[in-house]
Order: sequence, then structure tokens, then C-alpha cells
Amino acid sequence: MQVFHTVNGLRDILRKHRNSEQSIGFVPTMGNLHDGHLALIKQAKETNDIVVCSIFVNALQFGLNEDWDKYPRTYDSDCKKLEEAGCNYLFYPDDSEMYPNGLDTQSRVICPTMTDVLCGASRPGHFEGVTTVVSKLFNIVQPDEAIFGIKDYQQLAVIKRMTEDLCLPVKITPAPIHREADGLAMSSRNSYITEDERPKVKVLKEVLELIAQQIKAGNLGFIKLELEAKKRIEFEGFKADYVTVSNSKTLQPAAVDDRQITILGAMYTESARLIDNVSITLD
Ligand code: PAF
Repeated sequence: MQVFHTVNGLRDILRKHRNSEQSIGFVPTMGNLHDGHLALIKQAKETNDIVVCSIFVNALQFGLNEDWDKYPRTYDSDCKKLEEAGCNYLFYPDDSEMYPNGLDTQSRVICPTMTDVLCGASRPGHFEGVTTVVSKLFNIVQPDEAIFGIKDYQQLAVIKRMTEDLCLPVKITPAPIHREADGLAMSSRNSYITEDERPKVKVLKEVLELIAQQIKAGNLGFIKLELEAKKRIEFEGFKADYVTVSNSKTLQPAAVDDRQITILGAMYTESARLIDNVSITLD
């Protein structure tokens, strides 16, 4: 695997592959790679000739009181994992390469309505940071396909929408959620969970699945289902941020005649913010 720190270096090598009509698959990450990320690399390899991964802890998508400075940076072990997974190129820029004119004056990509709800409501500016960096990365890598995990369901939906709205020639492919043995969705932030909290955090997935079962059984009282789920999260000692039954495409609160439904949840432990989701299709 070759590592590139500059936009021009990466562009030069990828131009050669593109000229030889080789397809390019892309997996953007913030590093601290776990099996979920490696599954994305493997998935990209199955459908493309060349796979590019990026590692960039993007300050633009972190709020002032969030964990940008303590976000785990594990470059050496990430490189080893990427080599083993068969990644061809790693793009590992620093802040000045990605934001040469500084963060404050950086042009932004805004995707209205879908970014104000759910995680966007409690993390103002977060998705603007994501769409801005992802569109820059798409312009740098110019991939045929980019793979995003379904665990970050709202991020995936927003990026799909941005790609469609801006006519970006990139196929956005979702990848299944990777879970620990007890069902906890894999995340780089799981390392913040304390030993005491660890056996109880599976409550998030459990409440979302319970709502999915209830809806499938014909219970369309979404608000009551959401309230009960939040109570159960709080009973386990966590702070519920939201549990919402949403339209899978628009991410607005689901209507009773919606067929594609996604139940999304977020909760705070002492030092982690965890998210998860479950999607269902009704007949
Ligand atoms: O999901 C992530 O790791 C990040 O939000 C992404 C897509 C790499 C953009 O910084």
C-alpha cells in the first residue's frame, strides 16, 4: 500500500489508473479502524480494480465541545490493517492540505432539512462539515464508487442526497452494520465506553428492534413507542438523545402510510455518544 499526504501526489497516481480504465473504489474514514471499516475495504475490492482509503479527522464536523482532540489516532495499526485488507492507496493529508485557506473561510456544502433533524439537531454544523469534506474527497479521488456504513444512517442518507443534488458521478453503496457479539454496533467511539457501562449499552439496539417488531405487528403509535424506548434507555442509566421512527429516505418523522421506515436512536453514556438504527419495509 502506498501512502499519499498531498492532493497532487494522489491525483497523479490515480490518473494513471483511470487512463487504463481501471475502476476506483473509495472508503473515507477518520481512522482508528475496526472490523467494520475493513469490511468496507473488502466490499470496495470486490467491485473495483483499485481501492483508496482516506484517514482524516475532520475538525469541520466536530462541535466546539466535542471530541476532536481526543479522537483516537492510531496511524501505525491502521496502516497494518489496511495493508492486510488489500487497500492499494491511503490518502493521509494534514489540516493544511485539506483546508489550505483555513477552516473559517472554507466554502461549504449545505444539504437542507435532512441535516437539522436527529443527530443534526444535537450536533449543529456536523453534517455541513461531513458534506464539505466528503465532496472535497470525492473531487480529489474521483472514485467510481464510495462505500459508507449503514451504522451512520443519517450520514449515508445525506451523502446520497448531496451526490444526487450536485450530480456527482459517484455511486454511493451502503454497507451492513458490523456488530460486536452482544449486538453493539462497531464504532471508533466504543473505546470511550467504561467497563461498568459496557454490559448495558446493548439497550440501544434492543429498544430499536422492539419498536421495529411492534410496528411490524401493526402498532403505529410511533410517539408512544419512542417515549417508552427513551424511558428504557434512561432506566439503564444513560441519557437518551433521540429515538425516532423516520421515513427512510427523507428522515422526517414517519407517516402512518410510509412503507420504508428507519428507527434511529442516539444516547449518551458518561463519555460516549452512541448511535444505531434498524430499517424495516412494510407490505
Ligand atoms: O464516517 C466518518 O468516518 C466521517 O464522517 C467521514 C465520512 C470519513 C467524513 O469525515
